[in-house]
Amino acid sequence: MAESMKGLRRSHRCTELSNRNIGETVTVMGWVQKSRNKGGIIFVDLRDRSGIVQIIFEESDVGSEDFKKAEQLRSEFVIAVVGKVEARSGAVNKALITGDIEIRAGSLRILSEADVPPFPIEEDSKTKEDLRLKYRYLDLRRPDLQRNLMLRSKAANIVRQFLSDEGFIEVETPMLTKSTPEGARDYLVPSRIHQGNFYALPQSPQLFKQLLMCAGYDRYFQIAKCFRDEDLRADRQPEFTQIDMELSFVDVNDVIDVNERLLQKLFKECINIDVELPIQRMTYAEAMDRYGSDKPDIRFGMELKNVTEIVKDCGFGVFTSAVENGGSVRGINAKGQADMPRKKIDSLVDFAKDFGAKGLAYLAVNQDGTYKSSFAKFMTDDELKALVNVMDAEPGDLLLFAADKDETVFAVLGNLRLELAKNLGLLNKDDYRFIWVTEFPLLEYSEEEQRYVARHHPFTMPMDEDIHMLDTDPGKVRAKAYDIVLNGTEIGGGSVRIHQSDIQEKMFEVLGFTKEAAYERFGFLLNAFKYGVPPHAGLAYGLDRLIMLMAKEDSIRDVIAFPKTKDASCIMTEAPNVVDKKQLDELGIQLKS
Ligand code: AMO
Ligand code: AMP
Repeated sequence: MAESMKGLRRSHRCTELSNRNIGETVTVMGWVQKSRNKGGIIFVDLRDRSGIVQIIFEESDVGSEDFKKAEQLRSEFVIAVVGKVEARSGAVNKALITGDIEIRAGSLRILSEADVPPFPIEEDSKTKEDLRLKYRYLDLRRPDLQRNLMLRSKAANIVRQFLSDEGFIEVETPMLTKSTPEGARDYLVPSRIHQGNFYALPQSPQLFKQLLMCAGYDRYFQIAKCFRDEDLRADRQPEFTQIDMELSFVDVNDVIDVNERLLQKLFKECINIDVELPIQRMTYAEAMDRYGSDKPDIRFGMELKNVTEIVKDCGFGVFTSAVENGGSVRGINAKGQADMPRKKIDSLVDFAKDFGAKGLAYLAVNQDGTYKSSFAKFMTDDELKALVNVMDAEPGDLLLFAADKDETVFAVLGNLRLELAKNLGLLNKDDYRFIWVTEFPLLEYSEEEQRYVARHHPFTMPMDEDIHMLDTDPGKVRAKAYDIVLNGTEIGGGSVRIHQSDIQEKMFEVLGFTKEAAYERFGFLLNAFKYGVPPHAGLAYGLDRLIMLMAKEDSIRDVIAFPKTKDASCIMTEAPNVVDKKQLDELGIQLKS
């Protein structure tokens, strides 16, 4: 039987009580975590979003009617208790914030009964994620998820406060809009009034924030929902949230400066981590060369070493043919792993193959200085010595080499480096290492489309000293684009935008757009630029990724209240789903099957 809370008013959340409240009469409300009947005394752990407090029911205190109710309490019943705060009668529970007190109940109301939940509501759930997502409202009761969402709320507040203080204005931009140029597939929304036409949900507020700069808003920000129909991973969701910003009359350093201070404040106030400024910067070229990745995890070493020069004339065909074909040979040093069993090395080879490797060559330096290797027999002693030297190898180390075109070597060793670090326990989640990656290539060649495509988006400014190569060697042009990377995750990215029409036209030309095609897609922006546009630049963070790292979670699903599964569906609401024929008729849509 569910009772009302008429006449009662909650006085405290569970863990707002402490030994300072001893002797006070309080009213608490929440969910029964567990209830134990010790014959004549009933102990109940009461839970709300703040945590747990212990309540004691005895018939002499609550009377026979309420005591009978207390005997019926089961997990997840919602109750209200009026009682007196006392020092713990039993042993102090150091695991609980309220472990040195308890509430001696004077009265009890059952506000709502509860079925047995399909899984226990507890920290570090072992329950399969699919079941948790089906009952997300129960999953969200678990303390870890509650902490994550409270952290997220706090972070969003700090961002708002900081950016407002820095002169940013918060502006909302439309959700029903036209395709935006971030390069993923759009989510489309059919128009009823304009049948056959579709809105696109924004992949980011990019074009609108540039228009706001044209409109003189000077500094804009928004905590914005973005939608991208792409293949999902642990750090990707079809709808996610950006902390999006744009600034006028600035260059790269101005954007970096304000964002470094934002990150410093955010990490200090949210998780008490000191971010040392300035944050290290590295060019894209150096990041690829040293880490095989444009989002290097710099918490550990194991950097890539280029050994092409040493092996280019050796007797090992795998190496020499890669070099002859314009590729390179690079290696990493897995310190102290010389004794890795053959089976484990084979599994690393399989891992490497997933990233395009044809194989992986290894050389283990035994404690006695001899080698165990898949290729040493093809090399002279001098060559081997030089190799071991460049790789900084000591007895006990395992060297792993990939030979291929640069792109493949980077992908293979960059990922292998991370895999080894994971296996060797080198990835400490308490260690927060930020790095700016700068000077990204402006363009990349798409084999599929047989043309250059923008790496960031078509409005990104080339570096001044490279503009002249747009005609002659577009693949070499670097952009005024930057990413902020934290522990190997790209948490944000942005660029200086093109505001000169001649450069923009040239850019469209390189991308293979005719003037007409460019105007058809982005005409409103290009027109706006004709009426006075300030130089501007911006950046957007993935808020979900930021919170995931702060909360030390492995998936952004754990910091989003209602996330989608890997196949972009919501198990709880069963979205996406079929719709009535009437709805389709109104939209003028007929299904193919
Ligand atoms: P970009 O495409 O790099 O830049 O996106 C910015 C940041 O958003 C996060 N992010 C995602 N997070 C979760 N799920 C996804 N599917 C997803 N996709 C991206 C990443 C990324 O760094 N308009 C530009 C920004 C600018 O130039 O100002 C943009 O959207 O953390
Ligand atoms: P194979 O000649 O294909 O039998 O390979 C000889 C050895 O070289 C095996 O140990 C392979 O794993 C390794 N190997 C093959 N291709 C590559 C490559 N592209 N880079 C590094 N090692 C390779």
